[in-house]
Amino acid sequence: MRGKELAARLRAKTGATVEQLSQRAGKRPGLAVIQVGEDPGSTLYVNNKKKACEEAGIRSYGYHLPDSVSQLELLALIDQLNQDSKVHGILCQLPLPDHIDEFTIICAIKPEKDVDGFHPVNVGLLSLGRDCLLPCTPAGIIAMLKAYEQPIKGQRCVIVGRSNIVGKPIAQLMLREHATVTLAHSRTRDLPAVCREADILIVAIGKPQMITAEHVKPGAVVVDVGINRNEQGKVVGDVDFNSVEPVASALTPVPGGVGLMTVAMLLQNTVDAFCRIEGLTP
Ligand code: GUN
Repeated sequence: MRGKELAARLRAKTGATVEQLSQRAGKRPGLAVIQVGEDPGSTLYVNNKKKACEEAGIRSYGYHLPDSVSQLELLALIDQLNQDSKVHGILCQLPLPDHIDEFTIICAIKPEKDVDGFHPVNVGLLSLGRDCLLPCTPAGIIAMLKAYEQPIKGQRCVIVGRSNIVGKPIAQLMLREHATVTLAHSRTRDLPAVCREADILIVAIGKPQMITAEHVKPGAVVVDVGINRNEQGKVVGDVDFNSVEPVASALTPVPGGVGLMTVAMLLQNTVDAFCRIEGLTP
């Protein structure tokens, strides 16, 4: 299951929607992207997000702050963006430096501009099964499974990894799609046996190539959310692609898989936020 063509198609579709909505509203959607510090991974992700926005006709406003910025200064910027009518989405790239409390920052973003879906209000709405801004990577996984016509309803889904960004929200989304969900993690007893129960195995643990053929039931669908560098400096997933490919019926590559869908979903969320804030029906 490749993400490249699918994500490009979705981005083009979002771009067409943006043109139409902007004509009606007399203004364009805007996304503010905040980066703190010089982490090379964050710089790459942030640049990709800004570029994808421009291509889809969404205005992007970049704020690159030094590592030394105080929490109060960052909160002041967020407050300013919350009130700025040109800005419909606010994204603060994680991780943040140790002296800044991520939860405090996430909570400061207005829930209706929280295009990452990380604010407790959006997390709560998601767990209640209500409409909300969805976290981008989990939303991208669902979009990918649907685009490749993989059945979800009634399927056994095992998720490995319990992060707030991927593991927990994808569990909620798979439940909403009527899968039977198991949330496994580093302390799970006999992880390979638990994984082998899965019709759909979603892996987001941040351990390079940890999942091998022994974790996969023949014919299972495997979604690899990991982005790691191996000892040779090559980008690899959490799944050992060469080991798992002969066993799985479908598998997402890294790079070129779920990561590209994340950006496509961010654009979609920004358009959704724009519609809600400007009172437009999509
Ligand atoms: N860091 C890793 N993934 C993400 C993401 O989806 N959003 C933000 N803001 N930071 C991240």
